[in-house]
Amino acid sequence: MIILGIESSCDETAAAVLKDGKLISSFVATQDEVHAKYGGVVPELASRRHIESIIPLINGALTEAQIKLSDIDAVAVTYAPGLVGSLLIGLSTAKAIAYSLNKPLVGVNHLEGHLNAAFLEYDDIPYPHIGLVVSGGHTSLYLVKKIGDYKLLGATRDDAAGEAFDKVAKLLSLGYPGGPVIDKLADKGNASAFKFTRPKFDKGEFDFSFSGVKTAVLYYYQNLQKEGKFTEQTKLNLIASFQSHVVRIICERLIAAAQKYKCKAIIISGGVAANKHLRGEIDIAAKAAGVRAYTPSIKFCTDNAAMIAYVGWQKLKNGKTDPLNLNAQANEEIGV
Ligand code: KG4
Ligand code: ZN
Repeated sequence: MIILGIESSCDETAAAVLKDGKLISSFVATQDEVHAKYGGVVPELASRRHIESIIPLINGALTEAQIKLSDIDAVAVTYAPGLVGSLLIGLSTAKAIAYSLNKPLVGVNHLEGHLNAAFLEYDDIPYPHIGLVVSGGHTSLYLVKKIGDYKLLGATRDDAAGEAFDKVAKLLSLGYPGGPVIDKLADKGNASAFKFTRPKFDKGEFDFSFSGVKTAVLYYYQNLQKEGKFTEQTKLNLIASFQSHVVRIICERLIAAAQKYKCKAIIISGGVAANKHLRGEIDIAAKAAGVRAYTPSIKFCTDNAAMIAYVGWQKLKNGKTDPLNLNAQANEEIGV
């Protein structure tokens, strides 16, 4: 079975071809340069760029896979959650292909895509496991009993982790997206130089909150500026301390969830899962807890269409398809 996967939920346009569960080709066009000067994604500009990129990307994925459009058996596409204008470009394209070829259409939730990205590279991930989607829009922790069976254990109450990386980077004029820059610069800073307090919740042991640490960075920055002490090294120390705090909280929640629900495996996914400090710390924490950590390659952590094609393939195997009037949804959580 050959599946064409399409993804356009935010600021990455992507197309992939999956044959019998094996990835044959995967293309991603990022729009970082379009949004960089605004310090965040501008929805209208994102939609316009998706329109320009989507057909060349699909053609690229088909050419790389050495197939014609008519060779595909189904189209899998992200329909939620995301920017509606962006989602509609991928969804309309997928519908047009499915309709013109008279082939099935399968809608995939972007979060479910992230949660299954690790399966593109590992075939020994046990169930149940703990899955974390940590991206620019989400920081959500799930108990995964089997594919399609997700229970949301906790989520961020304010900013997503990636959003906090992006906002801290904007504040310190580091550029957009902030995550990769902070990841790199943090190597040169002292991660113990600045302390951050932890938010306390009465309920929701697996919830997250990152707006406090972001604001604390702002106050440290403003005070140091006022005192004329904001040197280049101080900036690097602040970046490293911020990253280390965020990473520590994520690791603690993941391991605590694995222990509580007696899971032998944890999976991380989403753009922030590309963070090398997070990947390293999760490996260490997982080993110490006797749990296996599955971290997809960076190209499968950030937005891509391979993970969408993979979930589409699983759905099709279970006889699930969607009608051509499937609509885009800006907000659609899974496992709630
Ligand atoms: O999953 P993704 O590509 O798009 C969304 O669905 O949001 O995630 C994008 C987010 C951005 O906030 C970006 O700054 C962050 O992932 N990110 C990183 C790294 N690479 C991307 N955050 C920390 N470290 C990284 N290396
Ligand atoms: Zn994503």
